[in-house]
Amino acid sequence: MYFLAAARKDAGEIVGEAVLKIINPSERQGEIGFGVAPKYWKQGYATEIAGTVMDSAFQHFNLHRVAAQCSPDNKGSIRIMQKLGMAREGLLRDIHFARGKWWSTVIYGVLD
Ligand SMILES: CC(C)(COP(=O)(O)OP(=O)(O)OC[C@H]1O[C@@H](n2cnc3c(N)ncnc32)[C@H](O)[C@@H]1OP(=O)(O)O)[C@@H](O)C(=O)NCCC(=O)NCCS
Repeated sequence: MYFLAAARKDAGEIVGEAVLKIINPSERQGEIGFGVAPKYWKQGYATEIAGTVMDSAFQHFNLHRVAAQCSPDNKGSIRIMQKLGMAREGLLRDIHFARGKWWSTVIYGVLD
């Protein structure tokens, strides 16, 4: 797993983060996740952060496929995955149990 912390140089403050998980090196499969501090939402940071991690997945780590998951209600995250060229691959129903209820995720992916 590789972690990225994104900072604004002027404020010296962490704006967001991303993770790249290499799941199966022999099949060159990876998964990304990302998040931005609420005060910096809707300023393009997540698009930039996720795009940077995606570039490194293909150019540096030479992966074949990169996937990402989020809640079906997470419009911002879905928009970012679409902007990164990812296609919707499916809905994983009730894949997690947390805080007393089942949660589904949508999965998006892109090939090299
Ligand atoms: C989802 C999240 C990462 C978006 O970060 P962000 O920096 O605000 O995203 P951006 O500014 O790069 O926006 C990208 C696009 O999504 C849209 N968007 C962002 N938040 C949105 C929201 N809440 N509802 C609808 N659209 C949204 C933006 O308008 C933009 O679309 P556009 O390019 O067509 O104008 C941020 O809200 C977050 O960290 N949420 C909590 C953690 C999380 O959900 N992570 C994703 C799971 S992997």
